[in-house]
Amino acid sequence: MKGASVATGAILAAAANAAVPQGVVQFDVGRRQTQSRTHRRGTDDTDLTTIANDMDDGGYFVTCKIGSPAQTLTLQLDTGSSDIWVPSSGASVCEPHSSQGGCPLGSFNADDSSTFVVTGRDKFSISYVDGSHADGSYFTDSFSIGDATLTNMTMGLGESTDINFGLVGIGYKSDEAVVSSEDDLSYAYNNLPLMMVRDGVINTNAYSLWLNDLDASTGNLLFGGIDTAKYTGDLVKIDVYADPGTGIFSSFLVALTSVGAASSSGSDTLTSESFPIAVVLDSGTTMSYVPQDLAEEIWLETGAVYNSDAQVALIPCGMASSGGNFTFGFGGPGGPTITVPMNELVMSISSEGTPVFSDGPYRGQPACEFGIQNSTSAPFLLGDSFLRSAYVVYDLVNNEVALAQTKFNATDSNIVAFPSSGAPIPSATAAPSQSQVSVTPAFTSPAYAASFGMMGSTATPTPSTGGSSSGGSGGSSGGSSGGSSQSAAGANSVPMDLLRIGALSATLFVAGGLLIL
Ligand SMILES: *[C@@H]1O[C@H](CO)[C@@H](O)[C@H](O)[C@H]1NC(C)=O
Ligand SMILES: *[C@@H]1O[C@H](CO)[C@@H](O)[C@H](O)[C@H]1NC(C)=O
Ligand SMILES: *[C@@H]1O[C@H](CO)[C@@H](O)[C@H](O)[C@H]1NC(C)=O
Ligand SMILES: *[C@@H]1O[C@H](CO)[C@@H](O)[C@H](O)[C@H]1NC(C)=O
Repeated sequence: MKGASVATGAILAAAANAAVPQGVVQFDVGRRQTQSRTHRRGTDDTDLTTIANDMDDGGYFVTCKIGSPAQTLTLQLDTGSSDIWVPSSGASVCEPHSSQGGCPLGSFNADDSSTFVVTGRDKFSISYVDGSHADGSYFTDSFSIGDATLTNMTMGLGESTDINFGLVGIGYKSDEAVVSSEDDLSYAYNNLPLMMVRDGVINTNAYSLWLNDLDASTGNLLFGGIDTAKYTGDLVKIDVYADPGTGIFSSFLVALTSVGAASSSGSDTLTSESFPIAVVLDSGTTMSYVPQDLAEEIWLETGAVYNSDAQVALIPCGMASSGGNFTFGFGGPGGPTITVPMNELVMSISSEGTPVFSDGPYRGQPACEFGIQNSTSAPFLLGDSFLRSAYVVYDLVNNEVALAQTKFNATDSNIVAFPSSGAPIPSATAAPSQSQVSVTPAFTSPAYAASFGMMGSTATPTPSTGGSSSGGSGGSSGGSSGGSSQSAAGANSVPMDLLRIGALSATLFVAGGLLIL
């Protein structure tokens, strides 16, 4: 997420799609491994910076074609930012012997494109809360994703950057980097989904994201439509809230109004002084970050423990199969609920060997990163660890988001395009009571009735919170995949691949008192 969170995220791999009906563009999304080395985890710690080379960041990526003749680049998909930007072939980060090992996902050579036009020299500057950045010029050129080609797409050229792959930001245009650097909304340009609307490729500025199972190989991003075969139950829509400071819609900020825990041993309603919690649905972040009190309750339910050296909550990898789940409710009573099973919340830390707990109740057991982490301040984020369990439709015209429980590994497809600009989300009903979403905080400690069933037979840690490290968000997820899907008229769909670019460095855990296998 731009400027406010960790942007590790999502990749799309564009693949030509056979049966794509008019008005939609679909991309398959999948997860796969890459040698790419980067990290966007915020820290001033020089040790951590060194370790960054050993880190893999998870994300969903899409393969795009830019320029004339076309150059192929694989870019990270991000609903938490709004610009497309690409690393320049001349950027030092792309040199093969750079500390990040070059730009294996591709870089853009402007000199080789006959249609490249600079439109804002030195006007492109984006930075992320972790301190990573990309700076350079805005330019226009031809851009293809899936089977959609936009001949005059505005993009940023990362001439000076410490990130060795580019991004496709598909958020609100008010969140474009140029708007914040010029501090003027009038500088906003038509970004990717708006260009698709302008060029008649899709009918309205809306898209659906189906990330699919942590272990699955396919998911997809569908511009201009919904796929009713990819979820169960009903799509229920809730309001997106404008930025409280500016009154402008700039991120997918929604109201999280309940969290419940359930397992074979019982169920609990969790509480937080922050309810209703303003959370951003952010596909560019791999983990989810909730307020401290709620995170601690969730950790106690599952047996996750905060590791102050690694600065993340860890959990024995074996807990993935312990059963149990968390249900997130939005927009008040009757609003959409998404159940996230435990096996979606236990993330392997590194593709290069699993660290083990060196002491404590889990001594000797393989350590995984837990998908729900704590954060001290807003914006709280629901990233890929949550989003994989949801089918999410983003409607940037009506400022609404519709959610339904995802159908993991769905192979069917029934794509319905939005018929016109501003048309409501097809098949979605509105959350009935969101106008009454209470702002009264309530906090009581739950009974942890679900805890026994969640933890299964794994050693039970002493419920204590503590530790004394700060910050450190970021993280990753893993998996591998590839995929494909089908589309319908009026929407445009593209295949995406989730590249696994990684997680926490195993090296990090040496310092953290963990052993490396
Ligand atoms: C391409 O886009 C730029 C920036 O929006 C605009 O100035 C230019 O006129 C456009 N060119 C064409 C051929 O449409
Ligand atoms: C989905 O498919 C993957 C890969 O085949 C498999 O590992 C996973 O268990 C499946 N998920 C569900 C919920 O069936
Ligand atoms: C969540 O867990 C409870 C208790 O194990 C189970 O009854 C319920 O079916 C689960 N819900 C989902 C959606 O998996
Ligand atoms: C997360 O919780 C741990 C343990 O309570 C604490 O030490 C750490 O500072 C918290 N991190 C953030 C970012 O709030």
